[in-house]
Amino acid sequence: MIIGIDKLGFYTPPYALDMETLAEARGVEPAKYTIGIGQTQMALVPITQDIVSMAANAAQTMLTEEDKSAIDMILFGTETGIDHSKSAAVYLQNLLGLSNRVRAAEIKHACYGATAALQLAKGHIMLNPDSKVLVIASDIAKYGLNSGGEPTQGAGAVAILVSANPKLISLDNATSFFTDDVMDFWRPTYAAYPYVDGKYSNEQYIRFFEQVWTDYKEKTGLDFKDYAALCFHLPYSKMGLKALKPLLEEEDAAVQDRLLARYQEGTIYNRLVGNIYTGSLFLSLISLLENSQSLSVGDRIGFFSYGSGAVGEFFSGQLVEGFQEHLNQEMHKDLLEQRQALSVEEYETMFADTIQVTDQEQDFTDRPDSSHFRLAGIKDHKRLYSASGNKLFK
Ligand code: HMG
Repeated sequence: MIIGIDKLGFYTPPYALDMETLAEARGVEPAKYTIGIGQTQMALVPITQDIVSMAANAAQTMLTEEDKSAIDMILFGTETGIDHSKSAAVYLQNLLGLSNRVRAAEIKHACYGATAALQLAKGHIMLNPDSKVLVIASDIAKYGLNSGGEPTQGAGAVAILVSANPKLISLDNATSFFTDDVMDFWRPTYAAYPYVDGKYSNEQYIRFFEQVWTDYKEKTGLDFKDYAALCFHLPYSKMGLKALKPLLEEEDAAVQDRLLARYQEGTIYNRLVGNIYTGSLFLSLISLLENSQSLSVGDRIGFFSYGSGAVGEFFSGQLVEGFQEHLNQEMHKDLLEQRQALSVEEYETMFADTIQVTDQEQDFTDRPDSSHFRLAGIKDHKRLYSASGNKLFK
């Protein structure tokens, strides 16, 4: 049975900060952010967006009524959970008007959560070929003002519809994965921001890529020459390159040129959004598919997923007939281009505007946000969402 990615949806909030502006405010050479780290802008998240509203915004752009009735499982990958108990997937079932006859759960392991969800979704489709699974990757990456990780912040969601006979990419059965208990990046339940050992996290990312790439090559016999493109988890757009380049050195020039050119196409959107943790790998795939003129049916794409702490996985898939007709270039380019650029002062004010732990009702309906779904407020410690038209959902 052919199982894979049928549709991809993407959402990022309607505000952004230019990295050169941030660099000036932090007294840093702008080229460090734009070239050294490889980020042009970062997405800014208002109080009206959380992982649930962002996921709903990403999913509603791609789901038809037919898809909605076929979905019987929602797997929500995130490391920005809004509740220790209730899963974000359940809120989504209500917001999107999906059937109550769905299995809904949240999956966590740092940036790897959505890859785990995707692999579980494949197994579910294998047993239930007529059903579809909605896999979500939705996160807000915040390291704190003036922190080392500040230029790598971001926010956004990717929605992935997984099915048999997919319209975009068939996923190969072989995968290679690797888990090792390392403390490169973690966020204890009491902490607003992660603890991160930046240099060590880079080293672990590179080590995990080498490990799963080598395992996958041994398992499948596939080598760099067999791939049209490779997509990476991108905490910032230079990271994948640091892992890839040393291993590419032995390859002939044509293979190197091809994979490096596709790498750049697969980082265009990520450069404008920043790290969206679970969604970064899949945003890179969307960026590649929507910005490359060099891909054809049957081309194999490799994927490297990395979640600090740490879990890594390499897997691959092939583009299927007609994949170009199921992309949303215009919608995604508009989403990115129409964002409002904020000053550093406005960014810092938005950053500090957070949900309060209080018994009082909190009303966010006066905050500007043109997104379809938004967090409207909090009442009795319950999040209230609204869709355009202002209906409140409990
Ligand atoms: P830093 O100390 O601010 O920066 O940390 P740096 O001094 O290492 O410089 C960065 C690069 O800019 C260097 O290039 C410099 O040479 C260059 P490199 O040597 O790496 O190729 N540079 C310049 N280039 C041009 N012109 C200039 C200039 N100045 C310097 N004038 C770091 C950077 C990424 C470590 C920091 O931002 C950080 O801690 N970020 C957060 C952690 C992170 O993103 N780690 C990545 C791997 S872990 C991961 O991917 C998992 C994660 O997504 C979490 C999860 O799984 O949940 C993070």
